[in-house]
Amino acid sequence: MSDVSKAKQYIKYLENRDLPDAEPLIIDCDPGIDDAMALLLLSDNLAKYDVKLICSCAGNTPIDITTQNMQFFATNFFPGVRIAKGSRTALVKVNPRNADDVHGKSGMGAYEVGPQDYPVEPDAIVAMADVLKNSEKPVTLVTLGPLTNVAKLVILYPDLKDKIKEVYTMIGSMNGKGNITSYAEFNSYYDPEAFDLVVKSGVKLVINPMQLGNETRIPKAAFEKMPTKNLRDNFVKVLAESINETVDPTCVCIYDPNTIVGMVKPELYDFVPCNINVYTAPKVGGKTVITEDPNGKHLVQKAKDIEKLKTFILRALFNKEQY
Ligand code: BDR
Ligand code: CA
Repeated sequence: MSDVSKAKQYIKYLENRDLPDAEPLIIDCDPGIDDAMALLLLSDNLAKYDVKLICSCAGNTPIDITTQNMQFFATNFFPGVRIAKGSRTALVKVNPRNADDVHGKSGMGAYEVGPQDYPVEPDAIVAMADVLKNSEKPVTLVTLGPLTNVAKLVILYPDLKDKIKEVYTMIGSMNGKGNITSYAEFNSYYDPEAFDLVVKSGVKLVINPMQLGNETRIPKAAFEKMPTKNLRDNFVKVLAESINETVDPTCVCIYDPNTIVGMVKPELYDFVPCNINVYTAPKVGGKTVITEDPNGKHLVQKAKDIEKLKTFILRALFNKEQY
């Protein structure tokens, strides 16, 4: 990103920061190509949201790499926002498998991020607790990776659960089928115990399940055709073209952005009350079944019109005015 674009982004951030109606947010992520796309979409909506903190967690790649990528995003798209380093590994699982076969060793596919100097606080859980304690309004949590940090937060600071408005989260699968294994979605697979704990913690989840990303998969050819007019468009293109897609090699499954789109364009979805069953036994760890239930405590996101949603996501990623 050029210095001029960075400066414009910073001015936009400063202008928006004191808006009284902006919704306070904490972001937890493991960037990750689709995390990167989700963060870009969020950075387009800073008039509505006051990003108080961004945290990294291990997931798609080891923690040092997801943290470096988070620093890159803070520098270029969220200047001035606090960032903090999160959990090195899952709560119980020892060295769960990463998803660097999909996202590349750098987590950003063919895009070279390299060492960053944006200051990082050393403990995401302490930083999250600090934001919650000091916020007058309840804070929305947005999670794009495994739920390890959030699980530790609710264990260590149970009194702060009331300060969490809800958790918008990309995790799990509707029907016991997965993308990292035959039975588990990746974020759920990486730390099933954390997911189970958060589901049962009393905090309300708004779940973007794996099926949404599969349904809104975008053909790689659509990215090729999208005219690019600036560095951001090229960045998105490089990211999209370097996903090593396992579900359908001709397409890109854009999982994490549906969480941000769910917040900024809720009219594109139905939010259906549900219950979630998370399996934690070793051979099925991370398997989930989500059942619609009018009395359910959580909500699951479902597309109203897949084609309309796909068009919206593609245009939003390329920051087209028309979207
Ligand atoms: C989830 O797993 C990760 O690889 C993606 O970033 C997304 O959060 C999809 O299953
Ligand atoms: Ca992710």
